Amino acid sequence: MLEDTSFAILPDRDGEKSKNRLIDIGNLSSFLYERNVASFQCDRGVVKVCFYDEDIVRIAFNPFGETSLRTSPAIIKQPHTVNVEIKETDEAVTLATEKLLVMLRKRPLRVFVYDRTERLLMAEEKRGMAFTYEGHVYCYKTMDKADHFYGLGEKTGFLDKRGERLTMWNTDVYAPHNPETDPLYQSHPYFMTVRNGYAHGLFFDNTHKTTFDFQTEADEYCFWAEGGAIDYYVLAGPTPKDVLRQYTHLTGRMPIPPKWALGYHQSRYSYETEEEVRELARTFIEKEIPLDAVYLDIHYMDGYRVFTFDRNRFPNPKQLIEDLKQNGIRIVPIVDPGVKADPEYRVYQEGVRSGYFCKYIEGDIFFGEVWPGKSAFPDFTNEQVRSWWGDNHQFYADLGIEGIWNDMNEPSVFNETKTMDIAVMHDNDGDPKTHRELHNLYGLMMGEATYNGMKKLLDGKRPFLLTRAGFSGIQRYAAVWTGDNRSFWEHLQMSLPMCMNLGLSGVAFCGPDVGGFAHDSNGELLTRWTQVGVFTPYFRNHCAIGFRRQEPWAFGETYERIIKKYIEMRYEWLPHLYTLFAEAHETGAPVMRPLFFEYPDDEDTYHLYDEFLVGANVLIAPIMTPSTTHRTVYLPPGRWVDYWTENILEGGRYHLINAPLDTLPIFIKQGSAIALGDVRRSTDMPDRRRIIHIYKNDEGTATYTLYDDDGQTFAYETGDYFRLHVDLEYSEHSVRIATRKEGAYHPDWELSFAIHGATERTTVIVNGEQQGTWDEKQRILWITDNKNI
Ligand code: GLC
Repeated sequence: MLEDTSFAILPDRDGEKSKNRLIDIGNLSSFLYERNVASFQCDRGVVKVCFYDEDIVRIAFNPFGETSLRTSPAIIKQPHTVNVEIKETDEAVTLATEKLLVMLRKRPLRVFVYDRTERLLMAEEKRGMAFTYEGHVYCYKTMDKADHFYGLGEKTGFLDKRGERLTMWNTDVYAPHNPETDPLYQSHPYFMTVRNGYAHGLFFDNTHKTTFDFQTEADEYCFWAEGGAIDYYVLAGPTPKDVLRQYTHLTGRMPIPPKWALGYHQSRYSYETEEEVRELARTFIEKEIPLDAVYLDIHYMDGYRVFTFDRNRFPNPKQLIEDLKQNGIRIVPIVDPGVKADPEYRVYQEGVRSGYFCKYIEGDIFFGEVWPGKSAFPDFTNEQVRSWWGDNHQFYADLGIEGIWNDMNEPSVFNETKTMDIAVMHDNDGDPKTHRELHNLYGLMMGEATYNGMKKLLDGKRPFLLTRAGFSGIQRYAAVWTGDNRSFWEHLQMSLPMCMNLGLSGVAFCGPDVGGFAHDSNGELLTRWTQVGVFTPYFRNHCAIGFRRQEPWAFGETYERIIKKYIEMRYEWLPHLYTLFAEAHETGAPVMRPLFFEYPDDEDTYHLYDEFLVGANVLIAPIMTPSTTHRTVYLPPGRWVDYWTENILEGGRYHLINAPLDTLPIFIKQGSAIALGDVRRSTDMPDRRRIIHIYKNDEGTATYTLYDDDGQTFAYETGDYFRLHVDLEYSEHSVRIATRKEGAYHPDWELSFAIHGATERTTVIVNGEQQGTWDEKQRILWITDNKNI
């Protein structure tokens, strides 16, 4: 009996109570300002404050040792040297730049952040920074009655996260994604607060399991981690757009994707043979349904060994890839991190011999079960491993492959914890850390390895990478799809707030499996989901093994016709979407936006999760319930044009909109413009036309900027792009258009303008010259002679 031994007097047998007690940071006693960093000595450690810019401040506190200013790989920017004005009184120290003021109250230490209009952004009226001797770190902030919370990456539930408690721990969840299913595959320890029309942001740079609690207390929220330090950045806003600019200044922005990555993509777990893939491509071509990519799921591999093809199923992958590319269709293979433990397999041999796999501190490789059976996992936290993994993609590049799909990279392991043993020790480029600390980085580091590897191999062409797992900053390398959803209407509904919050978390390029992954889809659901897919940044239909097929024609002719019409529409809208991707690349603003992003003064938009904006001026209000032909649509202030009927609707109120199965409700802000192109079978087909559709107003001015480039190389980074700035000036009977070109790229297409909302009496002046042909039938005024532009 254990009780008969000294075990009976084991310390702390009564539980971990003393370890869990929250210890406050205590009082501030002295401070020092040196080389851009202010250090505050407090009773229980040192707080450091460092401005990264006028409008970004970092606050760090490590209760367990030196407060270091190293960052996780999420952060790619160094601080700028900023002018800081410092003042001290008996009660407080203040540090101020032109845009922010940080006040540290001394007894006890509490942090208050204001903007320079003295608007309070963050307060610690009750608790502030604290910790437990178990090693957890906490930061409490006052929660205002008017606060709404957004971002936090890939989460189920509604748009506004007030009232939620959310955890960051990358997890493979095949079980249905329910409102309480948390966490999922991605970790973005970042959120934006919107309060009375103003926005500010907070990024908690801690890679441990972290929790954001907007639920437990009525007047305080809290973020905490199971280890590491309190280390966070306050982003001053004041608009949601500013917060995204500030956040992506720190964590990076997406590269402009290759155009083919924005087309329609078809996937299934799995198209299992070469013949099946050819047949699939043939059907798309015969039916003239546009298609840019087909995905190869795990069956393409030899025994699920990455960097191989199963030669029985795919006798000649090179030929297959070449033939499909002739038709503008690319192949995207899945690549998981698990390397089959097979002593006769080159990748495994190299990994073992070079010490590239994740190991315990004692030196044993960690093995876990995944698709190939017993597998080892590359330690992507090591630069050498990343470049080895990247170089291995030569196998795919040699076959003509330009896109890779990373999956299971949480990493997922088929065991009780669903992942790697947290005791595994990562190399972390010579600064070893346990998996407990670095788990959330695994997908990000694999993304870095894969993207950079492919970039090196593709000879100047842009790679495309899709990933399931990730951490803040993943947008630098990959598009994100939202994992194993189901063919439920509820999951179509959920995909909207999930993608909007991903977009608000810097991941502009995201989307769900259209049609739903698990469970059987049906014609009506696939039709409605495809309509939404046209306007979600990433557009892929994917479906799981053992469930009904869901290619566009799977549910009969009526559905096929509508689905085809909408896939075609995606291609028609690509010029506008591409322009928005260029904006995401430059400013971090998402492509798919919640309404409050553009209308933060309109509190009626704060909770809206079932409609969204594409860019600033296009509003999509999909039908997301079965047998439904009507829905209410909220239109923000201003006037809106119904895309289909051209009826003008007053904003600032709800409307009842009729939307039979073939109609996706779309509204364009009156006065704005969109650039459309021709329907093409693939983005590889000739691109001959741009039409800038202008939705005429009776007064005021507006601007539109159309972006384009070669769509496949990085030449845009060195000035080889095309940008057309269009200034518009309206009166009741006239439209003045002034254009200005920028950049060295000369597109082949012909440009025209179409003026909606005009009459035969409307005069149009383009760069000082009167032009235009009235089309009575379409009630559009056309300007097709573009010599003057
Ligand atoms: C995971 C992925 C899914 C994929 C399947 C087989 O469940 O999320 O998209 O089809 O694995 O590779």
